[in-house]
Amino acid sequence: MTANRSYSTSNPSDLPTRPSPTPVTVLGLGPMGRALAAALLAAGHPVTVWNRTPGRADDLAARGAVPAASAAGAVAAAPLTLLCVRDDAAVRAVLGAAGPALRGRTLVNATSVGPEQARATADWAGANGVRLLNAAVLSPVSTIGGPAAVIVCSGEEQVFRAHRPVLDALAGTVNHLGADPGRAAVYDTALLDLFWTTVHGCLHAFALARAEGVRAAELAPYAQGLPRMLPALLDEWARSADEGRHPGDRSTVASGASGLAHVARTARARGLDTGVLDAALALTGRAVAAGHGPAGVSVLVETIAGAAAAPVPATVPADTATG
Ligand SMILES: NC(=O)c1ccc[n+]([C@@H]2O[C@H](COP(=O)([O-])OP(=O)(O)OC[C@H]3O[C@@H](n4cnc5c(N)ncnc54)[C@H](OP(=O)(O)O)[C@@H]3O)[C@@H](O)[C@H]2O)c1
Repeated sequence: MTANRSYSTSNPSDLPTRPSPTPVTVLGLGPMGRALAAALLAAGHPVTVWNRTPGRADDLAARGAVPAASAAGAVAAAPLTLLCVRDDAAVRAVLGAAGPALRGRTLVNATSVGPEQARATADWAGANGVRLLNAAVLSPVSTIGGPAAVIVCSGEEQVFRAHRPVLDALAGTVNHLGADPGRAAVYDTALLDLFWTTVHGCLHAFALARAEGVRAAELAPYAQGLPRMLPALLDEWARSADEGRHPGDRSTVASGASGLAHVARTARARGLDTGVLDAALALTGRAVAAGHGPAGVSVLVETIAGAAAAPVPATVPADTATG
């Protein structure tokens, strides 16, 4: 279910109304936890905050947040707790201390975790009388509370519906992805996969250019063209991946492998780290060896999944697909 907000300004009754103030507790005051707490305060909700290391609540307290001395004390102050800490180990540590206080209340875990970890937290919540919604913040801190921020949730839809007015204060788009408590984490993890491999690509390109005497700032304007191509490519590859058809009419794995080899050779000659490039080369090499050279690059989704030995998609001409 989607919960994107859109309002017609021609009808005053369509204008967003402030939800009634709902006390919320925020556990974890790193950059994201602080941004979430600030957005809740800006929307008029009474906010209680706690952080493992004291002293991170000063700004928020100046804006009206109430710092609590313990996680359990903070949880007791509100029917709804938002947890946003580093990782699943931190979630376990906080729940270990605050778990009993959460009984009968709602927890929204907005920590980035893996799907299995999210499902394990749901099991823990079920066994401890806690209503749980797993959330993934898909946007950077600077967007939180504004229209560009995106948060996805999974778990019981009833819990999502009950707290949606509060969640709406955090992001312009708040979507419920279904009852599987791990589903939001699947989206989060897959998008982090995309993000970090892209980050690596950007920084590796800067290192390669610098090794050849080109400053990153000189290259950057030319690199800007690539992200502009991505929306169309993403849709095309998504269609190919879902349909299992990978036409090589515009670019092929064989051609991509050759370009990748050229990048790796240049980087190696300059003594740069080529670990990720070598891994990508090995992957494309496996695809070519399995006969996918003439297929479109989207066929790598099958190679990554370990399906390189699967029949070559029908869109690849039979005479070239066997080599
Ligand atoms: N920053 C972003 O732009 C962004 C965007 C999307 C999603 N996220 C996700 O949001 C979550 C929080 O990120 P963040 O940017 O706020 O910073 P972070 O550095 O990932 O997390 C810092 C917070 O985690 C707490 N923490 C770490 N280990 C703990 C433990 N064992 N017990 C209790 N608390 C512990 C820290 O407490 P102390 O202060 O005591 O160390 C602090 O409150 C992460 O899962 C991150 O992936 C962040």
